[in-house]
Amino acid sequence: MKSIFLLLAVIGVSLGAVIEMPLTKIMSLREKLIRQGKWQEYSKHKKAARASGSQTINDYEDLTYVSTITLGTPAQTFTVTLDTGSANLWVVDSSCNSPGCNSAVASYTRNKYQASASSTYSNDGRSWSIQYGIGTFSGTLAVDKFCVAGICYNTQIFGRATAVDESFQTQPCDGTFGLAWPALAVDAVQPPFQNIMSSLDAPIFTFWFDKKGPVNGGVGGLVTYGALDTKNCQINTLKYAPLTAQTYWMFGTTGVSAGSFSSNSMLRAIADTATALIIGPGGQINSIGSAVGGTYNSTYNLWLIPCSGANTLPPVTFTINTPAPTAFPIPASQYVIDVGLGNGQCGLAFYSIDSTGFGPAWVLGDPWIRTYCNVFDVGNKRVGFAVANH
Ligand SMILES: *[C@@H]1O[C@H](CO)[C@@H](O)[C@H](O)[C@H]1NC(C)=O
Repeated sequence: MKSIFLLLAVIGVSLGAVIEMPLTKIMSLREKLIRQGKWQEYSKHKKAARASGSQTINDYEDLTYVSTITLGTPAQTFTVTLDTGSANLWVVDSSCNSPGCNSAVASYTRNKYQASASSTYSNDGRSWSIQYGIGTFSGTLAVDKFCVAGICYNTQIFGRATAVDESFQTQPCDGTFGLAWPALAVDAVQPPFQNIMSSLDAPIFTFWFDKKGPVNGGVGGLVTYGALDTKNCQINTLKYAPLTAQTYWMFGTTGVSAGSFSSNSMLRAIADTATALIIGPGGQINSIGSAVGGTYNSTYNLWLIPCSGANTLPPVTFTINTPAPTAFPIPASQYVIDVGLGNGQCGLAFYSIDSTGFGPAWVLGDPWIRTYCNVFDVGNKRVGFAVANH
């Protein structure tokens, strides 16, 4: 008897799963508009539209890494942004017909959810709405079968987007797969990862972003559901920060430094896979920009720097409670970004927003995740950082 139980226990473990999904990098809206010379026009329009209210941080200016999921029976495939800064799943619906519903990207045809084509669809009855910096995305809630790389959950609640912001037409994707905590979810909908995690080996997922991934095609990174990524991450360097809240993936920092600048401000930080930049309080961003020799350019609302700085500038180092204060440098090769200005001019991946919606804080986006694999450990309520291989 005992050996049968042991055998079953072993089988039980091996019945779990680890799934790997390649990520594709798409160009952030800001970068796209700067490259097309349309940023000024857009930001003017946006400032006017944003006369009041604080800016939401998971902004579609910064939507950058996408992967695929399926909904329905038979499966309908969607390309979605993987976003640890929000907690809802939504896709554009077939009934959506405002300009933003369709893709203006020549190489991309938008996939839209068709409830009538799915035998497992049912109506939830509620409406949903998410406010981002650029506008509102809204529609109704539906229930259907959700799968990611063959791991499925039969009754996932998600948003059918019937009204989306016009700027979404420049994005070659169909929706968002929110990976933050349930407390952040609009309409208290249980996020997909919470529903599939019991099917996985471990209740974790690991992000690896390639150094400077190819844009629109090729593998730009990897998300591993259910395990660490031992191939792309230096696991011997892995350190975990306990979460200070279970809303965003939030943890504590005790300071930041760059060259001769050093601050001991204890600020909260979040790890956000869907933000292309590192966002922080204006005073700190300005100090970092000056310390590395950048010039603030009000036209682009961006610190500019010669592209050659990628090889010469000092790192920007965050000190994070893991739980002892530990230094995590970000090299210039990751924070000097080419936004298409030409003439050897690049941008610094640091952007100031004083009101993030949760007080003065850091939003550690793509440059952070390119430098360190991020391990989102739902089971142990912590987030881990390990040096990324490139
Ligand atoms: C910002 O940079 C661009 C490109 O170098 C330049 O044409 C523009 O005049 C700059 N704006 C300001 C306010 O310095």
